[in-house]
Amino acid sequence: MANNDNNNKNNINIYSPIDKVILEAAMQEMLLRINLLRRHEIALGLTDPVEHVKGRIKSEKSMVEKLIRKNYPVNAESAFSMVKDAVGIRIVCMFVDDVYRLVDVLKNQGDLNVVKEKDYIKNPKANGYRSYHIIVKLPVHLVNEVRLVFVEIQIRTIAMDTWASLEHQLKYKHNIKNQELIVDELKRCASELASTDLSMQMIQQMIEAEE
Ligand code: GTP
Ligand code: MG
Repeated sequence: MANNDNNNKNNINIYSPIDKVILEAAMQEMLLRINLLRRHEIALGLTDPVEHVKGRIKSEKSMVEKLIRKNYPVNAESAFSMVKDAVGIRIVCMFVDDVYRLVDVLKNQGDLNVVKEKDYIKNPKANGYRSYHIIVKLPVHLVNEVRLVFVEIQIRTIAMDTWASLEHQLKYKHNIKNQELIVDELKRCASELASTDLSMQMIQQMIEAEE
């Protein structure tokens, strides 16, 4: 019965058509800003700091599940005010320096209000997860008002991104036989990748100094 109840809740639609427009606009606006930064750097004759960028809007179903899990009211208001990753952007860079440079540039955009910041590169999670997370409030201009929308931006290197994808697969597997070994191996890989990331950064700087 409880299960049925939850299933019903998961089918609730919380977003109005305008809410969906706002979420889409926030994602596109953020992607556009990043694209502009890349093009500016290239136009300056510098190297593109970004390898690739992805944006996603958390599905309504996942949002409802999260609201229930966190004990928040299941409505659009709390989806916009309590949950900060309805809109998510992932920026993948070649080098660690690029990650920090992008963080700086984004933090300096006057109309982006940084509300939360986590440096999981300097302070990796116990499992080895590395990435730089910032949550910003982005203004979205509507016909008659400006809405501030939370956007979660994850910035990481290609190596960190590959690791996170691999580790993510673990979350969907249950009753794995070699769980402990896999967890240990992942952790070992994370630290090897971190030191390789630093070595590659150093090599890149050496090459640049030659030019
Ligand atoms: P909520 O996700 O809103 O509960 O907040 P939080 O405080 O847990 O945020 P955190 O910054 O730790 O994680 C936000 C997002 O980062 C997650 O939704 C994942 O996309 C990613 N992430 C965080 N930790 C891990 C991890 O250990 N492995 C992987 N693969 N991704 C992670
Ligand atoms: Mg989380």
